[in-house]
Amino acid sequence: MAILDLQRSTNPTSDEQRAAALADPGFGRYYTDHMVLANYTEGSGWENPRIVPTTNFSLHPAASVLHYGQEIFEGLKAYRHDDDSIWLFRPERNAMRFVGSALRLQMAPLPEEIFLDSIMELVDAERAWVPENTGEQSLYIRPFQIADEPYLGVREAHKYLYAVLATPAGAYYPDPVKLWITPNYTRAAKGGTGTAKCGGNYAASLAAAAEAQDHGCGQVLYTDGAEHKWLEECGTMNFMMITRDDELLTPALGTILEGVTRDSILHLAAEHGLTPIQRPISIDELRDGLDSGYVTEAFACGTAAVITPIVGFNSPERGEETVGDGQPGARTQTLRQHLLDIQYGRAADRHGWLRRVG
Ligand code: COI
Repeated sequence: MAILDLQRSTNPTSDEQRAAALADPGFGRYYTDHMVLANYTEGSGWENPRIVPTTNFSLHPAASVLHYGQEIFEGLKAYRHDDDSIWLFRPERNAMRFVGSALRLQMAPLPEEIFLDSIMELVDAERAWVPENTGEQSLYIRPFQIADEPYLGVREAHKYLYAVLATPAGAYYPDPVKLWITPNYTRAAKGGTGTAKCGGNYAASLAAAAEAQDHGCGQVLYTDGAEHKWLEECGTMNFMMITRDDELLTPALGTILEGVTRDSILHLAAEHGLTPIQRPISIDELRDGLDSGYVTEAFACGTAAVITPIVGFNSPERGEETVGDGQPGARTQTLRQHLLDIQYGRAADRHGWLRRVG
């Protein structure tokens, strides 16, 4: 039974326009006809979760988010299966992380059931926007929360707006990437906001991303803020590497984002003959491993990026370094395919990760 009020658009996208968008969606270029909204006011709590036509917001210019960046978001996907049923992948993990991010940014946390119901119902209302499962296309869902109280003093806001957008998406990184190991920037530090999914972390990553581009790399690999010694994560993804000893190594949690894809891959590792290990990994260990051939493969993972093979690194100290033979690793590709097969209903969902919409 529907829980959210649904106000249908009187001017929805035509079938032809939608088909054109779904044929080549890119990422974040087209938006579905409806979005979710809900409001929080101190004293009244969260109210009026609803689905409305997608349109501009009206915000007071003093809204706190515009000045102090009290904003958090999530990213998850809806997949169409062969029988036309539509499924979400581990949305409860996103709901939990959204609460964690809110608490870190001193925002009112959204009850997890509102998060889950709102996404289920939005996707159900927008089923026609979920692409066919012929390629790697899906409907990317972007829940977010902003402080919309007009107030210029620096304190937590007393009003928040929760919203969910949906956008058909193709591959975020269609090609393997090289990573720039930046000596100049860090993404997180102990006590910072690295574990929260907040817009500020991504704004702060753009200068490093530009630096990466200048050095022929598609993404950044950050090291820790204190010593520039320990591997952390990439700008939009977690980092993993495979060793000759059949280990799947990834930096331990602490300052980095706890990725849903990261966690899923760690759970799948054993089925691929890999021992999942989360521990501090130094940059020297990576470099020695590349030199000796001990590190055989590397990849980055995230909801938007799925699993993106890493074929090389670049850094001021060592210049260009190649992973293996400079091609996407075979085990990386197999893991990637397995994860996609679960998400698209082609492989058994042994962990109970899929949630049916509608
Ligand atoms: C995601 O993978 O969902 C992300 O949020 C990364 C990015 C596109 C910002």
